[in-house]
Amino acid sequence: MYRAGRRRGVDLLRLQPGDQVVDLGCGTGLNFALLQSKVSVGGLIVGIDRSAAMLRQARRRAERRGWKNVVLIQADATTLSPADVGARVAAAGGRELSDSALATYALSLMPEWERAWTNMRNLTKPAGRLCVVDMRRPTGPYALLTPLAVAACRLGGADIDAHPWTAVDRDCLGVEASSTRGGHLQVRAGTAPALRRVPGSEHPAR
Ligand SMILES: C[S@@+](CC[C@H](N)C(=O)[O-])C[C@H]1O[C@@H](n2cnc3c(N)ncnc32)[C@H](O)[C@@H]1O
Repeated sequence: MYRAGRRRGVDLLRLQPGDQVVDLGCGTGLNFALLQSKVSVGGLIVGIDRSAAMLRQARRRAERRGWKNVVLIQADATTLSPADVGARVAAAGGRELSDSALATYALSLMPEWERAWTNMRNLTKPAGRLCVVDMRRPTGPYALLTPLAVAACRLGGADIDAHPWTAVDRDCLGVEASSTRGGHLQVRAGTAPALRRVPGSEHPAR
């Protein structure tokens, strides 16, 4: 059900071999195989999640598959310091700023998802590509499944009415949109103009 959104999201990131990509709220690493197929061994995947248990599973997945190019960082996406995360990625052999960032089914779990969105932008180089994949109430014939979708989101702690992909529409250029499952899965990708960071502050001027 949800893999379709992941696949479309990764496709719309337009990754190239050698790229470095952030997977924000990476969970157990369900995006990693799709991302690996794009960035290949010369690239780097930076998985960020606040849950140590999720990251343990993500680490096991990377080890099982023999992926050496995965850096996992435990951090809260809404409060992390992009400079600190960048330094940790650089210390692990990557670059401070990534080429792209992706969040699949993660921002809707964060009441303060706008902060996570700002951090996604600050973890990415100017004109980097950003993608959000998330859920909303289905429409059309799929509307019959609304109670199921609402219950599944509630069970997983997601707010089905958060609509975090609207930030991509609002803030990015060259936005590409896709949806599936009667609109239940929404995918947006685009290029974010650079944020103007306030000197000495983690947070950019808006
Ligand atoms: C529904 S899972 C999705 C995982 C993965 N992106 C996927 O597509 O399978 C949501 C993930 O977001 C993480 N998460 C929730 N709130 C977070 C926060 N404030 N900072 C970082 N991670 C968070 C959870 O720990 C969980 O792993």
